[in-house]
Amino acid sequence: MDKKEAKRRIEELRTAISGHNRRYYVENAPVISDFEYDMLMQELAALEKKYPEYASADSPTMKVGSDIDTAPAARKQFIQRRHRYPMLSLGNTYDMGEVNAFFNRVREMEPDFTMSAELKFDGTAICLTYRNGELAMALTRGDGVEGDDVTDNVRKIGTIPGRLEHSEVPFPDEFEIRGEIYMPYKAFDRLNEEREIDEEQPFANPRNAASGSLKLLDPEEVEKRGLECTLYHMIGENLPFRTHVEALAAAKSWGLPISEHIRLCRTMEEVDAYITEWDSRRKFLPFATDGIVIKVNELDLQKRLGYTAKSPRWATAFKFQAERALTRLLSIDYQVGRTGAVTPVANLEPVQLSGTVVKRASLHNAEQIRLLDIHIGDYVYVEKGGEIIPKITGVELSKRNSEILPPDFPEYCPVCGTRLVRNEGEAKSFCPNSEGCPPQIKGAILHFIGRKAMNINAGEATVNQLFDAGFIKDSAGLYYLTEDRLLALEGWKEKSAKKFLSSIEASKSVPFPRVLFAIGIRYVGETTAKAIAAHFKSIDALASATREELLEVDEVGEIIADSVLGYFSDLGHLEFLLRLREAGVKMESGDSAVEGKVSDILAGSSIVVSGNFSIPREQMKKTIEAYGGKNTGSVSSKTDYLLAGEKPGPEKIKKAEKLGIKIISEEEFYKIINKES
Ligand code: IVH
Repeated sequence: MDKKEAKRRIEELRTAISGHNRRYYVENAPVISDFEYDMLMQELAALEKKYPEYASADSPTMKVGSDIDTAPAARKQFIQRRHRYPMLSLGNTYDMGEVNAFFNRVREMEPDFTMSAELKFDGTAICLTYRNGELAMALTRGDGVEGDDVTDNVRKIGTIPGRLEHSEVPFPDEFEIRGEIYMPYKAFDRLNEEREIDEEQPFANPRNAASGSLKLLDPEEVEKRGLECTLYHMIGENLPFRTHVEALAAAKSWGLPISEHIRLCRTMEEVDAYITEWDSRRKFLPFATDGIVIKVNELDLQKRLGYTAKSPRWATAFKFQAERALTRLLSIDYQVGRTGAVTPVANLEPVQLSGTVVKRASLHNAEQIRLLDIHIGDYVYVEKGGEIIPKITGVELSKRNSEILPPDFPEYCPVCGTRLVRNEGEAKSFCPNSEGCPPQIKGAILHFIGRKAMNINAGEATVNQLFDAGFIKDSAGLYYLTEDRLLALEGWKEKSAKKFLSSIEASKSVPFPRVLFAIGIRYVGETTAKAIAAHFKSIDALASATREELLEVDEVGEIIADSVLGYFSDLGHLEFLLRLREAGVKMESGDSAVEGKVSDILAGSSIVVSGNFSIPREQMKKTIEAYGGKNTGSVSSKTDYLLAGEKPGPEKIKKAEKLGIKIISEEEFYKIINKES
């Protein structure tokens, strides 16, 4: 590689890694595995070492990935506070040779030392401050310098005591203790099941679920998520301990959660044994770990070793390779999803992988099957990557004794027989029969009853049962169910039937914007539905809207406009809407102020908006209303705030300044409305 090429690659890697950092730390939705990420990072570090002229303090190798959401429209706002001691990351490696090198470096400075070997918990880092025995503050790592204040949420995590217990060892007046918040597999599986029912994107892994949950705005919701915590690093001024392990033992005596699997090691052989032991034992733990952390135990030696810009020199992490299992491919099914996408799914001989038994794995699409050159009966490697569904990553050719090729990719829908379509440039095939293809109808019903739609209390099993029994052929059918009919089906008791029917009854008071979202017009998501409902106010007005009229709504572009027009030109849809209306479902807006109401924090405030914001101005006005405020057109002595975006009207600014009216930015506005939540 020549210099020019190296420079280009360095830049490419920095951009890629920054993107992955954001997806991992802020969005909690990584698209590559940790291993792939670590390899990119290693490549970048190696290039920067070889070409020091391109080093930069701004490089991802020099700073920790930030979990703070900096998007201006981010509603999820927490107050950021400075860490008293920077919160760093750890050097990591997949190579035992480098662990040896770490050991030798320490020995050069001090021949006589001990080490603490610990599990590396795969969650999200937290820094707790205890003052006079009380939990005073909890900060996320943030960018290492400042973190989000998540104290209220952390108070809802059962394993973290709000107040310390007294023991023989008195606790310091003030100290920090850092650790990991994680979600055990059980809680993770339960959460994802719920999310699937609610049609929310499931979390890819427990780590993302933990950090996403920690950043929820509602502490009561956090409480339900089943988070746990383990603490592994105490810091403070003049702590009365000689070693790290002593400090943790004291913390344990005060009731703080400390891992049971910490082992004091004197030699590299002992560290080695710990690693080998846990590489297999970890598979039986009820939570995720991704490696082992080795720390110098003596605190004075830790101090002498010090820190690099990014991590301590007194600790390192050995990471486990992503787990991979070898098993037999029994057959391939073609599954039709709720959106009509057809996915080849491998049926496997059940095999244990990262805490769960895997029986099925995705093969993505026809191209993937061809690339892997799979035969039925082959032994295949299964891995859990960034995604939740395990994937087949390769074939063990030395074990091949099958000549059976997989069946050709179907041309017709395996469920309803409609000819599949594959749009140009897309790898996936679709069944276009959205109105008549059972999995797609069931999908539409599940969407309809979802929590953000009609909020009817039922899950996938109930929908399947009602549909398969022929009791409902679409969502409107729900409103014509009777107790007698339900009781005729297996598993229904009077109590469950009554409960289900009353939740259907309650859905009749769901406001129109959510009904509009629930009926599932393609591309009309929650926000678009709100905007359309606010504009047209009723289903009749919407049904007779022209393309031009639709395009007048800020959120509506050509694709959505055409989708809406297409929807209302279908007789089947009109009949469906008619039955919903007959049943008493809301087909028009009532008092709009009540419908989108979030809080009253702006009640009594009169606000003028001017300029451009990160969201359309109309939506900004809706947000003001949703928080109880009033929009007014021009600045007067009665105005409370001028909310100024980019390029505000100069006349308005002048007038506000003259009248002494407070001018606030978009960010300040969010701070105000989020204070309460
Ligand atoms: S010690 C100064 N011990 O792994 C760094 N970290 O990849 C002190 N982690 O940021 C960290 N288990 O969030 C330490 N037993 C353990 C850990 C652990 C998990 C996390 C931690 C750290 C990250 C580095």
